[in-house]
Amino acid sequence: MAESLVVENTLSKQKKYDSLLPQILSLISGENNAISLLSNVTAALKQTFDSFSWTGFYFLNENSAELILGPFQGKVACSRLPAGKGVCWEALNRGETLIVNDVHKFPGHIVCDSGSNSEIVIPLIYNNLKLGVLDIDSYEFNNFDEVDKLYLEKIMSNLINEITELKIFYNK
Ligand code: SME
Repeated sequence: MAESLVVENTLSKQKKYDSLLPQILSLISGENNAISLLSNVTAALKQTFDSFSWTGFYFLNENSAELILGPFQGKVACSRLPAGKGVCWEALNRGETLIVNDVHKFPGHIVCDSGSNSEIVIPLIYNNLKLGVLDIDSYEFNNFDEVDKLYLEKIMSNLINEITELKIFYNK
């Protein structure tokens, strides 16, 4: 597993992702413990993009009534998200990535950090089974776009294929 990350800070967002992607893929392929993997992915993303104030995973609990906080980087966050409310649940229910340019305008948005202004949520789906989400927040409005969506979805699809211990998260 790569022990360090090298992404030039002066690069454009797309070029940063281009530089980050192979490093994350190498990190993913070298480790199959889910907690270890997910932790490092949140760190790699937060470390690379100064505009990401929080990067983390939420996973469904056994009866799918709540999303429970998983590995993350950033401030202490809401540990449980009740079903049917907020950006994370909306993305998971739709089964597609959700970009919210201004979280204050999103009905039911769950505030974990009052400084957060925009958000992107990528659902994690394994063999048609919804497992949870990757959630990224920013203090900047309109921080996320199609470039983030493209690369983050790519990273998540690789991640999901590599993880062999997902059962620890959803108990099935
Ligand atoms: N804002 C999210 C909750 C999670 S935090 O942003 C870390 C939501 O509305 O689901």
